[in-house]
Amino acid sequence: MLDTKPQADAANDGQEKLLEVNNIEVIYNHVILVLKGVSLSVPKGGITALLGGNGAGKTTTLKAISNLLRSERGDVTKGSITYQGERIQSLTPADLVNRGVVQVMEGHHCFEHLTVEENLLTGAYTRRDGAKATKDDLEMVYEYFPRLRERRTSQAGYTSGGEQQMCAIGRAMMARPEMILLDEPSMGLAPQLVEQIFGIVKRLNEEQGVTFLLAEQNTNVALRFAHYGYILESGRIVMDGPAKELRENPDVKEFYLGMSDDGRKSFRDVRSYRRRKRWLS
Ligand SMILES: Nc1ncnc2c1ncn2[C@@H]1O[C@H](COP(=O)(O)OP(=O)(O)OP(=O)(O)O)[C@@H](O)[C@H]1O
Ligand SMILES: [Mg+2]
Repeated sequence: MLDTKPQADAANDGQEKLLEVNNIEVIYNHVILVLKGVSLSVPKGGITALLGGNGAGKTTTLKAISNLLRSERGDVTKGSITYQGERIQSLTPADLVNRGVVQVMEGHHCFEHLTVEENLLTGAYTRRDGAKATKDDLEMVYEYFPRLRERRTSQAGYTSGGEQQMCAIGRAMMARPEMILLDEPSMGLAPQLVEQIFGIVKRLNEEQGVTFLLAEQNTNVALRFAHYGYILESGRIVMDGPAKELRENPDVKEFYLGMSDDGRKSFRDVRSYRRRKRWLS
């Protein structure tokens, strides 16, 4: 049986919830309804994955949280978003960084004309704890990403896709975040590199205590590294559960694990097909 009811309330019981998205609706250009009542919660200290195919609404959800929709003519028209119990919809992205929430955008965003090290240092611009702390954190980032140390004087625009993704995550770490919203870290990268980057995300989570909400099309990798997952289809959460349970769920296996994009069916198709079958029998 498909379990299609979002269970945000049941998610990660007993753990402190850092972020809660309650039934939000997002409309672009006043007419295009993209999120149709999305709810999710992110417990402190966990890695939560937001999964789904092209155009499901993953990036829109992350941008709604970090208040980046306005520049895209998008609006949250219903629902609420709270961080540590307080509504954050009126904060600017810079205010959010001060509160400890940093977004790493889709597509390895770096400042191309700056060196790798200059990019990393831009991540510390809101900090007020002095040059020594910044220097220590730069060292911490280089320990997690030795490749960035080797490339520190290279212009970011000339580094590889994988190095740019590392640079984008390293830059977020320089703000000493409590939570990172990570959009599609696997995008365009070879499998081995994806594995390496997820491994570092897991270490940052375990050793530095950073909470992650990550959006991914790569269900397979994401469910191996995350603790909890939500599956988004056409702007709705169609399933959620502990990553281990989702990995073993027959429907998730059929639709999201080990199938090509061409062969991927949707939960909704199956639902209506089963409904039809019931109707006929
Ligand atoms: N600025 C915008 N104006 C209008 N529609 C948009 C805008 N941005 C996104 N959309 C639409 O909203 C839907 C969700 O897009 P979104 O980028 O959130 O999906 P996604 O799950 O991140 O997909 P992908 O995996 O391809 O990155 C898509 O149908 C997309 O075309
Ligand atoms: Mg996206």
